[in-house]
Amino acid sequence: MNKIKIKNFKKTLSKFITGVTVVCVNRNNKIYGKTINSFNALSLSPPLVLFSLGHKSSSIEEYSKSKYLSINILSNKQKILSNHFAKKNPSSLKINFFDGKNNTKMINNCIANLECRLFKKIKMGDHLLFICEVLYVNYNNKLKPLSYFNSKYN
Ligand SMILES: Cc1cc2nc3c(=O)[nH]c(=O)nc-3n(C[C@H](O)[C@H](O)[C@H](O)COP(=O)(O)O)c2cc1C
Repeated sequence: MNKIKIKNFKKTLSKFITGVTVVCVNRNNKIYGKTINSFNALSLSPPLVLFSLGHKSSSIEEYSKSKYLSINILSNKQKILSNHFAKKNPSSLKINFFDGKNNTKMINNCIANLECRLFKKIKMGDHLLFICEVLYVNYNNKLKPLSYFNSKYN
């Protein structure tokens, strides 16, 4: 075993395969999106999920002030969206959204979409943990997921 350092910690975590989501908030009619793979299930009753966002994120204010948000689980045809929303200053890209019930914007053609209400925010280390209550869902049984492993898509 090797003593933990930032480099081997990151590399070790990259050995855990995940899906890829884009979490969106709509603030004053501007849509913010972030590529997030810290998404996870938390509770069935009440229906809760979680994700974390670095507190140095350029959009941390917008995320922490939003009451509602959308979590969009990407299909393997949406790598371009994952790259786009991982950029600090994304250039323009035509993205098709549909409306959620609470002024949220959901990305079209995802493997699944969750409309959520922010339930609790917890400061944890250098990230802010968002615990979200899921209000509405939809999913597509035919699409395949985008997966991320060893810092690469597969
Ligand atoms: C596959 C993938 C997953 C990511 N997951 C997270 C995550 O769970 N939490 C996070 O804070 N950043 C995550 N990021 C980084 C953000 O998408 C983004 O690059 C980062 O927040 C810096 O940009 P910003 O300052 O504009 O927010 C991920 C990036 C990629 C490519």
